[in-house]
Amino acid sequence: MHDTLGQNLAALGIGLNRLKEDLKTNVSLMDRIADLEQLTSDTAQRVHYLALELRPASLDDAGLLPSIAAYVEHFAARYGIDADYQNSIHKNISLGPLIDANLYRIVQEALTNVAKHSKCSHVDVVVEGYRGQLILLVEDNGCGFDVDEILNSSNQEIRLGIEGMRERAVLAGGELSIESEVGKGTTVIAKVRCEQLTQ
Ligand SMILES: Nc1ncnc2c1ncn2[C@@H]1O[C@H](COP(=O)(O)OP(=O)(O)O)[C@@H](O)[C@H]1O
Ligand SMILES: [Mg+2]
Repeated sequence: MHDTLGQNLAALGIGLNRLKEDLKTNVSLMDRIADLEQLTSDTAQRVHYLALELRPASLDDAGLLPSIAAYVEHFAARYGIDADYQNSIHKNISLGPLIDANLYRIVQEALTNVAKHSKCSHVDVVVEGYRGQLILLVEDNGCGFDVDEILNSSNQEIRLGIEGMRERAVLAGGELSIESEVGKGTTVIAKVRCEQLTQ
């Protein structure tokens, strides 16, 4: 995986460099530009899958819910967005390393989208237990968007983040949904089964 990524990126660098050289002599460059575009999109896909496999270190030390709480605090400071963390589960939950990492990444991606797209004044990150499920909500009061339009778009690259969150929820044995209304805001909801919440 790392090898292919490194080779792709090296080839990309060399290709772009030659392109610059050739632009000086004005050769027809369309085919080579198309090759480089293909390589770029292939690399982007691989990075996407690599990121799916990586695991944040803080989870090992602090555990899932404290790591999410710390991330929300870090997010608020970094982006200057008023962000609240609410946890109604008074237990230290662990769903195992893989699932913990996937849930943590869902919160990260949802908050990144809030910062990038929502123009909100406030975001809530809420953790709840309900009927043996762990429910994670990231709820902003920003501009909202047309979820169906984005999910049905033929250009897959414009929803890699949302697809990534969905894949992670499925890898965690759960599901992800998004509720959004233009002008009102967006809520990302992840639900996974949690045995610790049935006891
Ligand atoms: N919280 C949000 N508020 C407003 N729009 C959003 C939000 N989250 C996602 N979107 C919309 O959905 C699109 C797809 O999101 P995503 O798959 O994460 O891709 P990206 O963030 O790379 O654009 C975004 O480009 C944006 O238009
Ligand atoms: Mg995104």
